[in-house]
Amino acid sequence: MTKTVLITGGAGYIGSHTAVALLEKNYDVVIADNLANSSPKAIEAIETITSKTVTFCKVDLCEQQAVRELFAQHPIEAVIHFAGLKAVGESVEKPLWYYRNNLVTTMNLLDEMQTHEVYDFVFSSSATVYGDPETVPIVETAKTGPTNPYGHTKHMIEQICQDQAAADDRWRINLLRYFNPVGAHASGKMGEDPNGIPNNLVPYVMQVAVDRLDKLKVFGGDWDTPDGTGVRDYIHVCDLAQGHLAALENIQAGCQAYNLGTGTGASVLEVIAAAEQASGKQIPYTITDRRAGDIATSLADPTKANDDLGWRADRNLATMLTDAWRWQSENPLGYEE
Ligand code: NAD
Ligand code: UFG
Repeated sequence: MTKTVLITGGAGYIGSHTAVALLEKNYDVVIADNLANSSPKAIEAIETITSKTVTFCKVDLCEQQAVRELFAQHPIEAVIHFAGLKAVGESVEKPLWYYRNNLVTTMNLLDEMQTHEVYDFVFSSSATVYGDPETVPIVETAKTGPTNPYGHTKHMIEQICQDQAAADDRWRINLLRYFNPVGAHASGKMGEDPNGIPNNLVPYVMQVAVDRLDKLKVFGGDWDTPDGTGVRDYIHVCDLAQGHLAALENIQAGCQAYNLGTGTGASVLEVIAAAEQASGKQIPYTITDRRAGDIATSLADPTKANDDLGWRADRNLATMLTDAWRWQSENPLGYEE
């Protein structure tokens, strides 16, 4: 029997790739998104890639009445909750907006799930909950301690989920702590489409490669890493999407946190080299001061997800950059015409 899954934020970068993964496994998908940071073209892309239809609802999940209607109108049996604001710098400037959007959307959803006795919940958390880690690779039991309002919202939502699961054992919740999602769908029809100048490394590098931006600034060449530039655990967005499918299909009573990463790190200079290889373009860059709030190394220990969820990320850095470049070169302005 097919299962109906609500994907909040499903027009966004990770949500759209996860919608494809679920449709390919014959789930019925309802997407709720207010398009605050996404395009309706992403919904078209999901349908083109899968030759299936999704139910799309343009909804602001901060509005409780709208969330009630969503659950009243659709036979939702599980929820994957991506909707949220995610820019660290912006969260420092506009904390209230971040707390309201990220917390209120989640509480509205959990309330309505409870009313309709829907207890399976998969949440987009982030490696940002670990703050500046004491040791790498990071295991799920490591000390948490985010360092910005965005990270605090993720940490608070994790706590809300843990408390909710402790209070009522019908809840089955997986908190997925993503490391650095990059890449795009291999079709070239779906990918990351940030508003304005990208904050993140790979979209920035791609816009340099496609001549939308002149030059990359490498934030610091004196980190305590092999080549002096920051090291991150980049994970292909399609591997991440499969991680959500695994989290949904192997969900257990209670509330569990899982690192979704590869366990392998890459430096900024290694990402630049892989992007040059994938695109055949030179990526001009200068090494500048460190960016406030950055850390030297972030690296997942994904063993728990490998063991409990039977999931493993297997696409390498070259594939991540090749797929990112296909999307960027075929759609230089993203979803915009
Ligand atoms: P995204 O911005 O592309 O997608 C988020 C979607 O949520 C957007 O389509 C946006 O329009 C929607 N949205 C925001 N507020 C909403 C609201 N009130 N009501 C309805 N829809 C709303 O971001 P993404 O990269 O796909 O990230 C998805 C989730 O994963 C986010 O919660 C993010 O914090 C988390 N995450 C992302 C990363 C990353 O590097 N991309 C890393 C760790 C965690
Ligand atoms: N970097 C540059 N130049 C740029 C952008 C980034 O040198 O223009 C460097 C950063 O200093 C860092 C690496 O590239 O060493 C990766 O930076 P990103 O901004 O792509 O990713 P972050 O690891 O800083 O941030 C990501 C998510 C955040 C999340 C954080 C912690 O974007 O949402 O991981 O998990 F909070």
